[in-house]
Amino acid sequence: MKIEESFIKLCNVNDIPEGKGIRIEINDHDLAIFKVNDKVFVISNICPHNHTAQIFNGHLSGYSITCPVHGWKFDLKTGKTLNNHSNIKTYKTKIVNNILYVNLPNKFFNW
Ligand code: FES
Repeated sequence: MKIEESFIKLCNVNDIPEGKGIRIEINDHDLAIFKVNDKVFVISNICPHNHTAQIFNGHLSGYSITCPVHGWKFDLKTGKTLNNHSNIKTYKTKIVNNILYVNLPNKFFNW
């Protein structure tokens, strides 16, 4: 199995509210998208604690997001945990003509 990555269109940057998360499910990825100080971050919407899909509903404070279920906290820029043991997945992004693209892994099976 070969794994490649490609950028996929997610949404218009203007559709992301400042300081409040949104959720987009695409190609079997559940994503939480945030805009803080005009910077956009895409991380997994699945909390590594109980695998609940509630990160987009979390509490933002600066560049940290707190899961609303049990309070695990993560750095939006790095995905590193701020109060527990498991990090959260982050995704590379790019913005072209105000459209947000995310780099998602594609799996190719060659047998
Ligand atoms: S499910 Fe997120 S902290 Fe428990």
